[in-house]
Amino acid sequence: MTSTLEQLKAKCEQALIAAFGETMAGTDPMLVPASNPKFGDYQSNAALSLAKPLGQPPRAIAQMLINHLDVADICYTPTVAGPGFINFTLKPAYLEAKLNRNLTHPHLGVEPAKQPQRVVVDFSSPNIAKEMHVGHLRSTIIGDCIARILEFRDHDVLRLNHVGDWGTQFGMLITYLREVCPEALTTAEAVDLGDLVSFYRQAKKRFDTDEVFQEAARQEVVKLQAGAEDTKRAWQLLCEQSRREFQVIYDLLDVHITERGESFYNPLLPDVVKDLEQSGLLVEDQGAKCVFLEGFTNKKGEPLPLIVQKSDGGYNYATTDLAALRYRIDQNGAKRIIYVTDAGQANHFAQVFQVAQRAGWLPEIVEIVHVPFGLVLGEDGKKLKTRSGETVRLRDLLDQAIARARADLETRIQAEGRQETEEFIEHVAQVVGMAAVKYADLSQNRTSNYVFSFDKMLSLKGNTAPYLLYAYARIQSIGRKGGIDFEQLRTSTQVSLKEDQEATLAKHLLQVNEVIKEVEQELLPNRLCQYLYELSEKFSQFYDQCPVLKAEESVRLSRLILCDLTAQTLKLGLSLLGISVLERM
Ligand code: ARG
Repeated sequence: MTSTLEQLKAKCEQALIAAFGETMAGTDPMLVPASNPKFGDYQSNAALSLAKPLGQPPRAIAQMLINHLDVADICYTPTVAGPGFINFTLKPAYLEAKLNRNLTHPHLGVEPAKQPQRVVVDFSSPNIAKEMHVGHLRSTIIGDCIARILEFRDHDVLRLNHVGDWGTQFGMLITYLREVCPEALTTAEAVDLGDLVSFYRQAKKRFDTDEVFQEAARQEVVKLQAGAEDTKRAWQLLCEQSRREFQVIYDLLDVHITERGESFYNPLLPDVVKDLEQSGLLVEDQGAKCVFLEGFTNKKGEPLPLIVQKSDGGYNYATTDLAALRYRIDQNGAKRIIYVTDAGQANHFAQVFQVAQRAGWLPEIVEIVHVPFGLVLGEDGKKLKTRSGETVRLRDLLDQAIARARADLETRIQAEGRQETEEFIEHVAQVVGMAAVKYADLSQNRTSNYVFSFDKMLSLKGNTAPYLLYAYARIQSIGRKGGIDFEQLRTSTQVSLKEDQEATLAKHLLQVNEVIKEVEQELLPNRLCQYLYELSEKFSQFYDQCPVLKAEESVRLSRLILCDLTAQTLKLGLSLLGISVLERM
């Protein structure tokens, strides 16, 4: 089931060839959804861009194209507009046929990718013994959404958690652990180290103020590298505890991810250095092994080095990423690798990608992308902090979202004089709270900073999760009120479009295919959010103008189908954002 846009594009290409000859094969007809209903549903500016190469006025080209266009099955005769745009307006019969087909299609007409790929999505990736902060929250939410969309399109997605579980900081942590909890290194039982973040802080304090401690920490790193039993045990202990804490967050967010931390690549690091040496890229600079980068210079304009092995023999974050990149391509067969981190790491990835490229480790068919995102700000416009100025604990943040959602719900229940069970309240609060946090993040263009505001994200008005969830629940309530079995209705009813609001809603419903494909390419979840928001708005306009349950029988059934398709599309779209719907709220 190709999308309308694809269908029209194919027909435009045929018309171009018919009008101007074979050389036009493969020419992009530059067809996009029209920005304003005045211009029909789709608009092409091909004639404008062909004016120069063809040496003819754009309006004449547009007319020639139209003369050769055979689109009667899809739209009314296209029209030339302004300097030479071509406007396409879809026919109701075409819309009806498509809707009727999508209705019983398991994926609402969204077809799987023609060439499914192995894709790695590297996201979340917090650091052991450190706080998982709001930056990791963004990575988790955005990465999960991207993975969901790729999976939905049938790609073979490997969700990888590139946890920071290796490095010199473990020397310090293990040395401190030996000091404060020596029994932890010998017992086989699980040991609770308490708050790991304050543990980290105390260890750091010891490290910064005591030279003997520093030396012990360095020894500990050497032992860890050499695989000494007790050191390894301590390392595992730290990792396990962090892992448990991270898991609480993943469970709350309903995010599934496979841990493959930095330590996994540790045995592969010497080869990275060796192979770089063999490819002639490696330069020794003051004892450190590095690759001098192209296009990255210091203040004096000298090329910057990417250090892959420090003078003390240790490796860097970048070395691990080089090893990971190779592993994902060679061992996992990845054809697309997506890294979801804050924009602050853009240079890091550009540098790693450049070195891999120059070393010949990147086959042309492999696409590697850094998906950057902006900061989370407090309502004061500064980096999000607690009132006392500390970094916000994710756990607290999510708990608070649920508590706020609950308070809102309880107020509403009381105002409406409803009786609800504790189970219902808890479930709704949990779903709405998590949905609000996720949606607030995803609905922003990820590259910009966004202000974290509970009031805004939990509002029932505007482009928020509660608004969309409410739109879904409202349709379900129409169904309940009318005693409708939507599932059964789908198999027995056909849509027919009479009113403008019905056609407007129908056209929007049919765009879901294009939107999902666009997000799959551009990796911008806010486009899907915007689509769903507009869908809810168009549904509201339809529902305001077109009575459903009170309409006469055949109109009633057709309109119920439009309701159902809207609900199904909302449910699908929200599920791709990692948000579940509520039948009632
Ligand atoms: N652990 C890193 C951090 O907290 C993020 C890792 C991202 N992934 C990667 N392959 N470098 O900043």
